[in-house]
Amino acid sequence: MQTKDISVGIIGTGYYVPEKVLTNFDLEKMVETNNEWIVDRTGISERRIADENVPTSEIAIHAAENALKNADVSPEEIDLIIFATLTPDTVIPSAACIIQNKLKAVNAAAFDLSAACSGFVYGISVGSQFIKSGMYKKVLVVAAETLSKLINWEDRNTCILFGDGAGAAVLSQVDDGYGILGIELGADGSGGDFLNVPASGSLHPATTKTIEDKLHYIHMNGSEVFKFAIKIMGEAALKSLNVAGLKPNDIDCLIPHQANIRIIKSAAKRLNLPMDKVVVNVDKYGNTSAASIPIALSEAVESGRVKKGDVVVLVGFGAGLTWASCVMKWAKED
Ligand code: UT7
Repeated sequence: MQTKDISVGIIGTGYYVPEKVLTNFDLEKMVETNNEWIVDRTGISERRIADENVPTSEIAIHAAENALKNADVSPEEIDLIIFATLTPDTVIPSAACIIQNKLKAVNAAAFDLSAACSGFVYGISVGSQFIKSGMYKKVLVVAAETLSKLINWEDRNTCILFGDGAGAAVLSQVDDGYGILGIELGADGSGGDFLNVPASGSLHPATTKTIEDKLHYIHMNGSEVFKFAIKIMGEAALKSLNVAGLKPNDIDCLIPHQANIRIIKSAAKRLNLPMDKVVVNVDKYGNTSAASIPIALSEAVESGRVKKGDVVVLVGFGAGLTWASCVMKWAKED
């Protein structure tokens, strides 16, 4: 997809992670695993876990407030809130509406977006179209998860991987030539069973049997997802670069979905990119699904790693199966 006319970019970022840290050593006491295996196979050392009584919207609001502050935009100026999550507080109302109310973003339309770990980049893509069309001026894209609520803490295949967290970005018109230059989105529903929560909707409404059978938890075929990720991350990034008329060696900063260090390294290799151009925080937070890219982006902006004029590439993959990549010329002077 080629992006034309009005230039749209990110003018503010923010993130939030819960305080509670769960280390690999803590997990050693919960399931048959060990720190060495987890670090070696995933690159993860620890992850953050939200308190039991904290819904996803609550951590999302912290990230959204930080992004609004960073963008110097008030909640009333927001025209639309897009909330990417696979762990909404409830099916209805949407968590986007809960966030809209708590932020007092009284002029904003709001909806949830379901594209799993690709959700933030899908959200950036959808939100930017509203600005390009002239319908809206400011769009807040928030991505947050409390995956700890969907994890079977007896399943070592999944419980070592995921964590809780939130990230957000404010989209607006930016100077010509800056902002989003290319987007690639995709889906392959034939791989839906590789990563799913079987009893989470109309297919298997909750019963004592679905709970006994643990169908309300995340189920994953790790090696199939791994194979898909290795193939799609580099491919998606290359396609979005191609739309932007750029080459891998134009990249100043790659922000990949933080699922597994081996997947991140393989994407960097495919793009022939040295690891010092790749943002990695999977060691600290594990896989926070939709939140992982905006958390990594916010940290990179905050540390001064991303500067005005830099070519930044976001790339992710996730359940669905889905994938998404976005190339931007960073528009904000910090
Ligand atoms: O956002 C998308 C979300 N999902 C992903 O990104 C997942 C992508 N997949 C992966 O990251 C990797 O496939 C995993 C990290 C999940 C697994 O790594 P792997 O190198 O593919 O391991 P494996 O599943 O092939 O298992 C190797 C061995 C097995 O033992 P045997 O059969 O060789 O004796 C597993 O039973 O490791 C065993 N194993 C573990 N051992 C210690 C699996 N999980 C664990 C564990 N601790 N937690």
